[in-house]
Amino acid sequence: YSNMKIACNQKEQDEFYSTVGCHPTRCAEFEHKGAEEYLSALRELAVNNRGKVVAIGECGLDFDRLEFCPKDTQLKYFEKQFDLAEETKLPMFLHCRSSHTEFLDIMKRNRDRCVGGVVHSFDGTKEDAAALIDLDLYIGINGCSLKTEANLEAMNSIPTERLMIETDAPWCGIKNSHAGSKFIKTTFPTKKKWEAGHCLKDRNEPCHIIQVLEVMAAARNEDPAELASTIYNNTLKVFFTGS
Ligand SMILES: *[C@@H]1O[C@H](CO)[C@@H](O)[C@H](O)[C@H]1NC(C)=O
Ligand SMILES: [Zn+2]
Repeated sequence: YSNMKIACNQKEQDEFYSTVGCHPTRCAEFEHKGAEEYLSALRELAVNNRGKVVAIGECGLDFDRLEFCPKDTQLKYFEKQFDLAEETKLPMFLHCRSSHTEFLDIMKRNRDRCVGGVVHSFDGTKEDAAALIDLDLYIGINGCSLKTEANLEAMNSIPTERLMIETDAPWCGIKNSHAGSKFIKTTFPTKKKWEAGHCLKDRNEPCHIIQVLEVMAAARNEDPAELASTIYNNTLKVFFTGS
């Protein structure tokens, strides 16, 4: 959360917002610093920066990267962060990687403690998507959600009113080998070394969000502008109007 302090101090950046929470791979920090103290520090950040902090997160589970934080610790402190969601009435920005069963279990148990939220970087099955939609959650799509034909099918199964869009930059870019890449229309000047006005080779950047939209719209056979408008409205609804 020390990074977050810096972000929140930049209040002059009107277009930037942030979340406050502890990522599953960092959950051991709760125990290093004292769980109650750590939670209080997060709470203070969220409360003192209302308006700039629009969600609790990202939090959740990541069983692909247990080397950073063991399973039990992840489970314990994911659930603990519902205290913050409940107290602040902020939506949650959620992470779920190779942990669908446990994630759903915790989510179901605590669903009425949070106003709602989005499960970002979704790469689950159709059934996983349906279970999240059943819980009245939104689903965030980026390049990692569009790698295979099965990914595209799962994404297609999500109702438009439940979609969000993201890059997760610098990770999760759409690679040429990905099933979704055939639908990309917009490309950017790119260099191997950083140069003004160019993207950096193999680094996902915020401007690439148009590519995510292009893949989604083509795969779903929807008009990109219409889809973008719905997704934008979904985003406002969750993070900026509290419903
Ligand atoms: C999004 O919301 C705006 C403002 O309420 C509305 O005009 C627009 O039609 C909505 N977009 C879609 C696709 O429903
Ligand atoms: Zn994440």
